[in-house]
Amino acid sequence: MMLKGKNLLCLLDLDKWDIQRLLDVSFSFKEKVMTNSIPKTLEGKRIALFFEKPSTRTRVSSELAVSMLGGTATVLSKNDIQVSRGEPIEDTARVLGRMVNGIGARVQKHETLHKLAEYSNRPTINLLSDLSHPLQALTDFMTIKEIFGTLNKPIAFIGDGGDNVLASLMAFVAKLGLEMRVASPKELRPRPDVWKRIEEEAEGSGAIIEFYEDPYDAVKGVSVVYTDVWISMGQESEAQKRRELLSKYKVTEDLMRYTSSDSIFLHCLPAVRGEEVEPGVIDGKKSKVWDQAENRLYTAMSAFSLIF
Ligand code: CP
Ligand code: NVA
Repeated sequence: MMLKGKNLLCLLDLDKWDIQRLLDVSFSFKEKVMTNSIPKTLEGKRIALFFEKPSTRTRVSSELAVSMLGGTATVLSKNDIQVSRGEPIEDTARVLGRMVNGIGARVQKHETLHKLAEYSNRPTINLLSDLSHPLQALTDFMTIKEIFGTLNKPIAFIGDGGDNVLASLMAFVAKLGLEMRVASPKELRPRPDVWKRIEEEAEGSGAIIEFYEDPYDAVKGVSVVYTDVWISMGQESEAQKRRELLSKYKVTEDLMRYTSSDSIFLHCLPAVRGEEVEPGVIDGKKSKVWDQAENRLYTAMSAFSLIF
């Protein structure tokens, strides 16, 4: 399928070749940035970047990606536009559709992405929703490929089984036929409708995704250990319950001892040191989180260039 003009709301909507292409083009943009030979693929294009939630990496990488590719970005924080005073998202989308060529959006509810795409009639890219974070997963697998030379390395996610970043990592694994283990409390597992789609894809591709309750069982021999915050944006009212449920799902230096000798630690960031990960891990030798954060720029350039 051609990516140009399509939406990127969830990796499950793409085929394996689209995902592979997004990765290949990310690597090529990294090279082009290093050699100062960036093609102006968004010349004359206007892109709206809409944020209902805070962001550092996504905001910087998206805004820079548009300008480095020769386009113009207008960044809209929810509190600064009329949505905050009750203007419907449908009307906002209609207006954006008259002025811009594409939309990137970070939203509270995934459904808002569908509304933005439908009412703007412009290609729309998910910059994180409650359900998924596709550009993050692309970056993560780019980082894995960069380090190991292959995507085919067992990865263990430790923590919140209902996490949005995890959902995109699982979607990637399911599409590409890879292997992943998830250690999470049984109370925090993927939403059944999300899991159903991932499971169907995994059956088709031969991917293996297994759930564990004991993080030590999940990390045995893996090459990549991944975690995310226990309390995602929008879940603040459940903080105490989540801390209790997740207390044994911390990535510790001891846990890392059970992984493969070449293992790395990844985290989408921002991190809470001492909560989901010990400082000795995230700031230690196995941590590749800064390479991972840098790669957000190249995956944003790739997605924007191919879609807008
Ligand atoms: N990983 C990530 O999306 O970071 P931000 O919330 O800072 O954009
Ligand atoms: N799960 C986190 C990811 C932040 C990039 C959140 O949604 O807050």
